[in-house]
Amino acid sequence: MNDHLQGIQTGDATTTEAPGGVSVPDVPSQRFYVTTPIYYVNDIPHIGHAYTTVIADALARWHRLLGEETFFLTGTDEHGLKIQRVAAANGISPQEQADRTSERFREVWKLLDISNDDFIRTTEPRHTRSVQALLQQIHDNGYIQKRRYSGPYCVACEAYYSDAESQEHGGNCPVHGTPLEHFEEDNYFFKLSEFTQPLLEWYEANPHAVQPEGKRNEALGLIRQGLEDISISRTSISWGIPVPWDPGHVFYVWYDALTNYITAIGYGADPERFETWWPSVHHLLGKDILRFHCVYWPAMLLAAGVEPPHQLNVHGYLLVGGKKMSKTRLNQIFPADLVNGNEKLGFAAFGVDGFRYQFLRDNPFGPDGDFSYEGMLTRYNADLANNLGNLLSRVATVVASKCGGIGPAPQIASPLAQVAKEVYDETAAAWAATAPSRALEATWRLIREANSHLEAHEPWKLDPGPAVDAVLGDALEVLRIVAVLASPALPTTTAEIWQRIGLSGTAAEQRLPEAASWGLYPGGLRVTKGAALFPRLS
Ligand code: MSP
Repeated sequence: MNDHLQGIQTGDATTTEAPGGVSVPDVPSQRFYVTTPIYYVNDIPHIGHAYTTVIADALARWHRLLGEETFFLTGTDEHGLKIQRVAAANGISPQEQADRTSERFREVWKLLDISNDDFIRTTEPRHTRSVQALLQQIHDNGYIQKRRYSGPYCVACEAYYSDAESQEHGGNCPVHGTPLEHFEEDNYFFKLSEFTQPLLEWYEANPHAVQPEGKRNEALGLIRQGLEDISISRTSISWGIPVPWDPGHVFYVWYDALTNYITAIGYGADPERFETWWPSVHHLLGKDILRFHCVYWPAMLLAAGVEPPHQLNVHGYLLVGGKKMSKTRLNQIFPADLVNGNEKLGFAAFGVDGFRYQFLRDNPFGPDGDFSYEGMLTRYNADLANNLGNLLSRVATVVASKCGGIGPAPQIASPLAQVAKEVYDETAAAWAATAPSRALEATWRLIREANSHLEAHEPWKLDPGPAVDAVLGDALEVLRIVAVLASPALPTTTAEIWQRIGLSGTAAEQRLPEAASWGLYPGGLRVTKGAALFPRLS
């Protein structure tokens, strides 16, 4: 077999052999488990939900490219008073409310090409079993106690606040700004106070568990203040999972919800499967739910004798007009309006990959970021239409006019080979650090350099021959590498690029790092121009 064919699929060959004859292991060397928060079913999916889910999806796709066995979980959080009240307001049962809205999430994830391996709903029997098993274990270990509770409560947060917090905010919820309600009931309490020291030790021993650094400090701050025991059950509502040792109580929605991450991998049902995936999990979450994930969740697991999660990646809000999106502010934006366009709102159709690119590329992971339609338009036209789209269409046009439509092979000693190597290293490091925006910025450097290379040599002005072949071969090789590196962000358009440059299969089926090696585009393949990948939008 020709050296250039090794390690990739072309029109006529498939191999799992890497360059130099090193075989690529079919058995994954590592596992990658990634989760999104599970979304409440009181609200339909908006771009804030999509933001987290697209990032999780791109991470899962990147790890699949690395040949890792990957499990990507998302789902819906369906119990609690908030859902019960919305259902009542809509004149339907909570289950109907959950069924309808959960379906909306599934539809939108399908629209956005989300490749989740499982979709968990907290009303499923498998989840009831797992929640009851976890909480029973914590109870058996002596960390749960019954007490009478009264205090200010926010239904939107599904959380009690301390009197001090309530006073500080004038009787309003610190997150929502709406009046807190006074609740009083018999509750089971989780003895969180006993976990202050174990949590501090866990943070000390796992300095990278909470990312980024600022969010780790925020979590540590909460723990260092000293932790109070927390109420984990309710008698005031019935829409929840019954406490197994006292079925008059249901678990408070957060303890039910957090457990989803272990239900889906078989906690309480399939110990072998559970051991396979836990604790090497990467949770993605917004900063509003840091306390639950970075304090309560590891403490619950420690109390049950289970290791806390490997990594918690906390991101900021996606703001619209400087404000967090909410139904009451009427500033929600829905994914389909940006993917398919919405004339009434004056939105162009960015397509699925245009949408995904914006939310992966625009905001660095961590701080808040403001969504701007104009910003999205500018970025789409610059990065996708001009840089990537133009590279493909220019190359295909010149291959048609100067090479009879057959793409030449790259030069091994191309000046772009070194750039490709650096770009791969930077891209890989950024994905490993959960920094999609940096990863795409790195990948786009290769596109820009290839465009400059074309402009410097102007093959369209030359007569057919080796000089033209060299420049076009290099540009085709860049397109091949970019198709692989950008496939987590742009699954559809990179599959299209792959085909148009004559390769068979998909970019996403390739394996890194082998597929990023310079010189694998074999040449001799038919290159097709086709319609603009990313039509310019105005
Ligand atoms: N159901 C809980 C999570 C339980 S996880 C065990 C919940 N649901 S939520 O639907 O309200 O929010 C889910 C996630 O979406 C949170 O991480 C939240 O930060 C994120 N976002 C919701 N709106 C958002 C923005 N405007 N911007 C960024 N993320 C946003 O909380």
